Amino acid sequence: MTTTTHDWLSYARRIAACGSADTLAAIEHELFGRKAGILTIALKEVGALSPEERRKKAVEFNEAKRTLSEAIELKRKTLASPSEDKLKSEDGMDISMELPPLEQGHLHLIPEFIRSVEEVFGRMGFDVMTGPEIESEDLNFNLLNIPPEHPARDAQDTFWIDQKAKNSSNEKLVLRTHTSPVQIRYMQSHTPPFRAIFPGKVYRKDADATHSPMFHQFEGLMIGKNITLANMKAVMITAIRELIDQKAEFRFRTGYFPFVEPGLEVDMRWQGDESESREGKWLEIVGCGLVHPNVLKNCKIDPDLWQGFAFGFGIERMMMIKHRIPDLRSFYEGDLRFLNQF
Ligand code: PHE
Repeated sequence: MTTTTHDWLSYARRIAACGSADTLAAIEHELFGRKAGILTIALKEVGALSPEERRKKAVEFNEAKRTLSEAIELKRKTLASPSEDKLKSEDGMDISMELPPLEQGHLHLIPEFIRSVEEVFGRMGFDVMTGPEIESEDLNFNLLNIPPEHPARDAQDTFWIDQKAKNSSNEKLVLRTHTSPVQIRYMQSHTPPFRAIFPGKVYRKDADATHSPMFHQFEGLMIGKNITLANMKAVMITAIRELIDQKAEFRFRTGYFPFVEPGLEVDMRWQGDESESREGKWLEIVGCGLVHPNVLKNCKIDPDLWQGFAFGFGIERMMMIKHRIPDLRSFYEGDLRFLNQF
């Protein structure tokens, strides 16, 4: 018996070119129909061939059966999935239309600023540490050379924690009034030389356009051999220029803080208020100085061997200058019209 040669490739082409489910069904029937399907018959007749022919043809037919049925399945799926045009006309929907941009949140401008502070000081080799917002009287005041009756305590109107709520030890607790207690924590747990910054929230009984009962500071501390005020100024000026403005206008003047000697304050020009003159007015943004020998001794660091400086920047005030913000309370009101500008 002779076998017919089949052009399986032409079937494959017809399947690929076919544009409707009906035509596809017809081709499928032509190939796989139970009685007259070309492949059905071919496979049935294989048994009648000579053993050698049979082996050859069986391979060919099975291969054809597999590829052609796969091609049919694939085509069936493609024909079943709706086309773009069909979607448009059925639902009146334009799937090519541009969507409005998705609203995305972002960090609040204060934590965002703290990240850039860490980055700028990181480049100058400063470590970062944070401390608790509830502090002992010792860390917030005594160890910083501010004993109980010291007048400097009045300058930082303190929130004391209700003594009934406090822990078993007899320590008096406060909401920290500055980030300086973290200086003490750092000095107690590290050996000099070192340099580090300490960002975080601080609390004082104050509230007006330039004061808030909660605000943010970052403290800086650098202790080593032969560290002078010149080193302090260099570090601070670099930071002010990078964080606020390369052309920032500032002035150093003497100031008093019990934990530094000598002590200085830095003011910067602030043009927050429309009614202000073009020059704006000076706003104090940082206290600083050389760490007082008593503070070093309190942390078991020998002041004859080690010296250094400390500073405490007011973060909101830096941002008020940088972005010309007239009222510091805007930072905490959660008004998106304000926040979305940053
Ligand atoms: N702790 C001071 C304040 O909050 C600022 C300061 C820090 C001053 C470090 C000197 C050195 O007012």
